[in-house]
Amino acid sequence: MTDALMNDPSTHGPHPADPLIALRPWEAPEVTSWGRLPMNAVDRRDGALVLDGDWRFQLLPTPEAPVSDRWSSAYVPGVWTMQDTDDLPQYTNIRMPYTEFPPQSPAAKNPTGVYERQVDVPAEWAGRRIVLQVGAAESVLLVHVDGRPVGISKDSHLAAGFDLSGVVRPGERATVRLTVVKWSDASHIEDQDQWWHGGITRSVLLYATDPLYLADVTVRARHDGDLRVDCLVRDASGALPEGWYVTGELDGHLLAQDIGFDRANEEDGRVSDFLGEVRLHTLVPQVRLWTAETPELYGLTVRLHRADGTIADTSRHRVGFRDVEIVGRDLLINGERVFIRGVNRHDFHPLTGRTVSYDDMRADLVLLKRFGFNAIRTAHYPNDPSLYDLADELGFYVVDEADIESHDHAHEIADDPRYLNAFVDRVSRMVLRDKNHPSVIIWSLGNESDYGANHDAAAGWVRRHDPTRPLQYEGAAKRGWADPGLASDIACPMYAPLEECVAHALSGVQTKPLIQCEYSHAMGNSNGTLADHWAAIEATPGLQGGFIWEFWDHGILQRVTDGRPAGRGGAGLYDNGVAAPGHRWAYGGDFGEPYHDGAFIADGIVFPDRTPKPVLYEHRELAAPVRLKCFRHEGLVLSNHQHFRGLEWLAAEWELSLADGGTLTAPAELPDLRPGETAVVPLPFELPRDGGEAWLTLRVRTAQDLPWAPRGTEVCAPQLRLRAAEPVEESAVAAQVEVDDDGLLVHPLLTVAPTLSLWRAPTDNDELGGMAARWRAWGLDTLVRKPVSVRRDGMSVTVDAEYAGTTGVVRHRQVFTPVEGGLRVDEEAELPDEWDDVARVGSVFETVAGLDLLEWFGQGPWESYPDRSAGAPVGHHSVPVDALFTPYLRPQESGGRHGVRRFTLSAPDATGLAVTLDEPRQVSVTRYRAEDLTAAAHHDELVPRPGCVVHLDAAHRGLGTASCGPDTFPSYLVPPGVHRWSWTLRAL
Ligand code: GAL
Ligand code: MG
Repeated sequence: MTDALMNDPSTHGPHPADPLIALRPWEAPEVTSWGRLPMNAVDRRDGALVLDGDWRFQLLPTPEAPVSDRWSSAYVPGVWTMQDTDDLPQYTNIRMPYTEFPPQSPAAKNPTGVYERQVDVPAEWAGRRIVLQVGAAESVLLVHVDGRPVGISKDSHLAAGFDLSGVVRPGERATVRLTVVKWSDASHIEDQDQWWHGGITRSVLLYATDPLYLADVTVRARHDGDLRVDCLVRDASGALPEGWYVTGELDGHLLAQDIGFDRANEEDGRVSDFLGEVRLHTLVPQVRLWTAETPELYGLTVRLHRADGTIADTSRHRVGFRDVEIVGRDLLINGERVFIRGVNRHDFHPLTGRTVSYDDMRADLVLLKRFGFNAIRTAHYPNDPSLYDLADELGFYVVDEADIESHDHAHEIADDPRYLNAFVDRVSRMVLRDKNHPSVIIWSLGNESDYGANHDAAAGWVRRHDPTRPLQYEGAAKRGWADPGLASDIACPMYAPLEECVAHALSGVQTKPLIQCEYSHAMGNSNGTLADHWAAIEATPGLQGGFIWEFWDHGILQRVTDGRPAGRGGAGLYDNGVAAPGHRWAYGGDFGEPYHDGAFIADGIVFPDRTPKPVLYEHRELAAPVRLKCFRHEGLVLSNHQHFRGLEWLAAEWELSLADGGTLTAPAELPDLRPGETAVVPLPFELPRDGGEAWLTLRVRTAQDLPWAPRGTEVCAPQLRLRAAEPVEESAVAAQVEVDDDGLLVHPLLTVAPTLSLWRAPTDNDELGGMAARWRAWGLDTLVRKPVSVRRDGMSVTVDAEYAGTTGVVRHRQVFTPVEGGLRVDEEAELPDEWDDVARVGSVFETVAGLDLLEWFGQGPWESYPDRSAGAPVGHHSVPVDALFTPYLRPQESGGRHGVRRFTLSAPDATGLAVTLDEPRQVSVTRYRAEDLTAAAHHDELVPRPGCVVHLDAAHRGLGTASCGPDTFPSYLVPPGVHRWSWTLRAL
């Protein structure tokens, strides 16, 4: 911050007693704006003065408090809650952070940020129309220039423009003051499940136009090549000058102009040059269509000319030709029923809270592309404008959602006429801003705000203004998925049980596409049954997909020393999902908030630094564009599972993994397949007679550099089993097995002998779904082992023990038998009938230190669980022990590997141990005991143990999604009764 900015004397003194404050707009829901320009889709970023950077700043306790002469500074765009003020972030999900009823907010404590700076208005702007645009401010923005009131705006996620032509003088310096009131009537309809912040979150611009200017441009580009561009022309004087005209050019080709009032157009839009309305038109032959798979864009330039032909204004747009329609119960893009593989996305950043850069958004979308997503719901407000440009360019279907969520007071507000304006204002301004993006295929009226007349009013506006896109609103849809009269063209439930969705699709009464607006809640170690969902969606006409909740874990980087957000200075203080020493990812409560909803804010498919969670690999495979269907005697059946393109953008390689013979590779030739087609290709390998269990994998990669992936990026790895494992008999040998007096195995490589484990550190799903409470009530976390008998029987030792919980006892038997090079452990556990759903049944032991590499044959390489293992191919995998663990923000069961057949744990000198399992089993190797993970609230509290904690599970419960939504399916539960498992342990 420069001294000049800080010390300009003209900015001192009390806050002007002015009409903007006197109006008290923060408690007037009827006031959505004053002095604000209409929203439009003309891009003004070119040639604008960007007023980002340090502004003079002070935080007042209330909006009416006097402005003092004590200025500090704040960075714009940014939230002050992350910039060293005493007003810190607070997280609540449903409940408002205060008890006042709408439209009231706390009178005594309503942090109000006053931002001020000087702007040198360019002298060359003389005679031009000058506009100030504030990208976004939450939740009420008051604008003063040189002490004069200029305007008011609400809606924390849309820009506000103000005409300063009569206010500032070109060639002179003006003082711009932006006052941002944190709590208001508007907060009650911005009660989204995220951190509460205050500030200016998107860029502030000052730009100039000719007095004669393009007030709006509306592009409609259809899949038959028909292009219609409606332009709205205005003049600052209020009256249009004689002789103006508009020209348009699409990639160098001129568009025709429809001028004059034309009856033929009357029905279809308003065209009248008298009123400043003009339509450009063309038909593009052999048009290249826009889809999420083929994001073909054309460049459109619209020019507004004065009578003498000189150019008064220019607007550039990227145009994608595509149609969206609902036919029957199918949502069609260019006539095709596409699957919606979506995710919900907030504008989030761990250092800036809500301000996201272009590069960050690009990185978000690139990552989503790489993991097979094709759709985004902008939960729960219009996202940063660049996101839509990127979605057009990279290829995503967008459900654009208005900034309306009144969760805590949903019922009162939905029909409250004082909020009517706000609903229509927010929905209509979103549509006016985003209407030209081919990526936007559906409008959403908002989220979790009940359903009332205010919604119908907003829906009415959209349906009339933009008949080219469907509309959805979960709150309306839930009144009846098939009800045609509601403000939702899509049946868009959240977290509906899969069987209910399937039943609806099979019921014969379905009238609308069923696309869940939220499903598969990604909190912690989650997203169980995603594969089951997709199997059902792909097999059931009427089901078309959904949007996973959600993209981000909203952990804020926090300094542990002083508990403050690290802010922009925290760049680089995290790696691979983990905060640097002295830091942690803060969630609800970590800033001392009186009310909060804890770790419920950490429910994304990526960590706060965008490191992918293992579920992404699952998703990538479920979205695979190429599938290996089956192996018939004439060869392998391969299919193109895309909607619009062939396989020419992909290259592939075959991989044959033999349990006892390593991995062989061979080049693969992908057949020329149109979408939906299949081909039979010959088996690429002669299957060796030996080698045991055999798996064939097709490693599919990008064949060329793409905007979202360099050449060679893996896209999917479909797999088929070619040969099953043969059972192996291990006969006993003459040797000693040593057990202690309690029947615990004594082994030089183990520091803790194998015992029975029924407990896992509860996942968020286990906790919030109520399972963990049940397990604790049964005493599964504190089972007490009591040896019953130790018997030697030939070479074997049989140990019977009881494990007592509070409501039952498990009988457990271990039989230790010496085998060639080691010993076999045959185990049996009998669970009481009342313990009908436990986390796991298996063995746990700990190893000596130094065994830091895990190598295994089984599913991998990433974390997988019984109900989340479709993306982990069987093969030979090798991962350092420290990298096996997934650092979920709130520590919990983590790092498991499903379908493990055998593994070694070794030191660099190749010493260590080898375990072979009787069947593919769930295995985990970590530095933490389940109790360590259970006790910690944050990752930085964990102290790694020197050795490894190893779990081998006879059965392991699925993950499900019960933190918000359905639990796992019955087939993934661990039942009571008898469980048997065997394993061998050898030294390497
Ligand atoms: C939904 C809501 C989201 C989020 C999610 C739980 O009900 O729409 O905003 O709260 O649940 O994480
Ligand atoms: Mg909510």
